[in-house]
Amino acid sequence: MATYENRNYRLGDSLDFQNFSEVRAIAKRRLPKGIFEYIDRGTEDERALTSNRVGFDRVKIRPSVLKGDATPRSTSVNLFGVEYVSPIVVTPTAFAGLVRYRGEIELAQAAADFGIPYCAATEAISSVEEIAEASSAPVWFQLYIWDKEELSYELMDRAWSKGARTLVLTADTAVMPKREFNHRNGFDIPFRFSTKNVFDVARHPGWALGVLGRYFATTGLPNFANYPPEYRTNLLKRGGGPSLNLMPNLNWGHVRRVRDHWKGNLIVKGLLRTEDAIAARDIGAEGIVVSNHGGRMFDSAVSPIEVLREIAETVGNDVTILADSSVQRGSDVFKLIASGANAVLVGRSMLYGTAAAGRKGAMQMMQILTDEIGLTMDLSGCRSVAEIEEKMLHRGTY
Ligand code: LAC
Repeated sequence: MATYENRNYRLGDSLDFQNFSEVRAIAKRRLPKGIFEYIDRGTEDERALTSNRVGFDRVKIRPSVLKGDATPRSTSVNLFGVEYVSPIVVTPTAFAGLVRYRGEIELAQAAADFGIPYCAATEAISSVEEIAEASSAPVWFQLYIWDKEELSYELMDRAWSKGARTLVLTADTAVMPKREFNHRNGFDIPFRFSTKNVFDVARHPGWALGVLGRYFATTGLPNFANYPPEYRTNLLKRGGGPSLNLMPNLNWGHVRRVRDHWKGNLIVKGLLRTEDAIAARDIGAEGIVVSNHGGRMFDSAVSPIEVLREIAETVGNDVTILADSSVQRGSDVFKLIASGANAVLVGRSMLYGTAAAGRKGAMQMMQILTDEIGLTMDLSGCRSVAEIEEKMLHRGTY
């Protein structure tokens, strides 16, 4: 399968990890606390993080034994007519470019080399043009609708012109949630450094030199490269200037207009209700992501694994169903697929792999998750992703 190259491997990089929890520990050491917590934590009292975890743990697998034969087991999956080696997708995240110098590019290259989709984000540090040009496979693109809607269409067209044919429209973020730790750390969107976090950066000289320093020496201080220039704020710019915000009254009319405009595949991300999945299908979306945004958007939101089966039974024959939120092991991916997902989006694990060792670290994390998915399939008696079905699960209490 994938081969690792030494390109962009730097002093201090670590590949000494075998699972999510170990790569998370490396990222925690390397990254300033503000950045690590922005990625790692949830919102308010972090109940959604806990219930995502409990949701996975309540579901057990009833393995089917003595099914071996000469057929090779495969983790491959076909999404929108493209064959991928593993049923995982690199989810769009803000700030991948802050865990590593040109982090989005490293991660996109890792995904292309490994053979899974990479979804570039609106709130990225590198522009969708740069990422698409550096990647050997077409990228997907995630769109936030801004309050100046026409600018979102310009961005969408830029992604299209660079070969993106799958658009992920985020539906669950009309407003930003209450993340008190970001405020306390002095790290939020739009981000800027304050005296509060100067010490945080000073305590992480490897990051200060290897990430911030390299941007400073090349393209200048990081900013949101997808934003029209007049709306960009860099790490040190305070207030002033016009602002570009998320659309506060986001509604199905916005989705309809995007559907009319976008000629490729449209995926609506952040749905937890069956009637919303039906609405997305009826508007003509090719896919949905059943998601509570990694437990980082709405602290009282239900966990995807609890509602996925119902949604999949209703629209599963009509649309591609993706799911995500707090996936840490291959068995979590298996459980979401068994509940009706065609593939699963992963975020934090990818950012931590990138933080640990750039493209090589990201690929190692992709390999670890894929090996764990394969092992779960082997132990469960499933030889293809299509064989991972609801009947493999036991939904109990924990
Ligand atoms: C977040 C948004 C920006 O989860 O997607 O932080």
